[in-house]
Amino acid sequence: MNYFVTGGAGFIGSNLVDRLLAQGNSVIIYDNFSTGFPEFLLNARKNKNFSEINGDLFDIDHLTKSMKDTDFVFHLAANADVRFGTEHPSKDLHQNTIATFNVLEAMRANSLNQIAFSSTGSVYGESEVIPTPEDAPFPVQTSLYGASKLAGEGLISAYCEGFGFRSWIFRFVSILGERYTHGHVFDFYNQLLDYPDRLDVLGNGHQKKSYLYVQDCIDAMLCAIQKSQEKVNIFNLGTSEYCEVNDSINWICTHLGVNPDIHYTGGERGWIGDNPFIFLNCHKIRSLGWKPKYSINEGIIKTLEYLEKNQWVLETRK
Ligand SMILES: NC(=O)c1ccc[n+]([C@@H]2O[C@H](COP(=O)([O-])OP(=O)(O)OC[C@H]3O[C@@H](n4cnc5c(N)ncnc54)[C@H](O)[C@@H]3O)[C@@H](O)[C@H]2O)c1
Repeated sequence: MNYFVTGGAGFIGSNLVDRLLAQGNSVIIYDNFSTGFPEFLLNARKNKNFSEINGDLFDIDHLTKSMKDTDFVFHLAANADVRFGTEHPSKDLHQNTIATFNVLEAMRANSLNQIAFSSTGSVYGESEVIPTPEDAPFPVQTSLYGASKLAGEGLISAYCEGFGFRSWIFRFVSILGERYTHGHVFDFYNQLLDYPDRLDVLGNGHQKKSYLYVQDCIDAMLCAIQKSQEKVNIFNLGTSEYCEVNDSINWICTHLGVNPDIHYTGGERGWIGDNPFIFLNCHKIRSLGWKPKYSINEGIIKTLEYLEKNQWVLETRK
């Protein structure tokens, strides 16, 4: 297969690219390197079946031409940070919804009709059903990020109906692992490197969250694409456990051998749109035979080990 991966220089995208290449596929990535890194492509660049295009999803001509001769689109490029929506209200709309529309139009122009989309568990807002299944009552949105991703899902479903597309929509919990560049483990590690005696924590530390290791996430996506052939295939992806932010702090501090004073900003939510309890029902993907190989604790330790060996990633965010 010849895959087109938007956001292929990012955390999840570059891991996916390595896997697709290892399976003998050809891969073209399309990325503007806004949050992705050339360093994440060092393995891929050694492979003759890999090519990369430095392009933006808003350059529609370039996007359309770049997609030529591919078979399947993984659309992962996005503004992936859920936290700052209210600081720039149009960013999520542009990067997550309109950019998705541009990808769909470029596909249509190239007569492509298979797309996998990285959505998010944030689309459920503060669901009353926990663990939250894919068919939970229609969610009330609490973040611009979640709203923009749900709108992206809506466009994809409409293209399936209107233009004969087939789609795989993945609602991820937070992903951990090698090449991780944003999220709470990154923030805590970064703080503790500078000030091992103090840790500032958003919220009261009792927020409950679920996480998934990046290779498990990739296994799940590939399993669903292989085994589920509905017109629109929607899957939650997560582990069957959750932890409190305070559990995660304990694991991180134990691994790093530090014992900081912890300063909480307070409140049940760390930021506007933060969900105090995210835990997805993943029976649907598990019914296809997939199960995660790593626990949340193991995923956090793997993430720390990556950051310890790759401190340059921290420098890029300073
Ligand atoms: N990391 C998580 O925990 C998580 C959880 C749920 C959903 N997701 C989703 O998974 C996807 C990948 O997330 P990630 O953590 O790898 O993020 P990331 O920021 O590492 O990767 C996003 C990539 O998209 C590229 N990009 C962004 N805007 C672009 C544009 N306009 N044109 C071209 N390229 C562009 C960036 O340069 C980057 O390489 C995103 O869609 C994100 O919303 C991630």
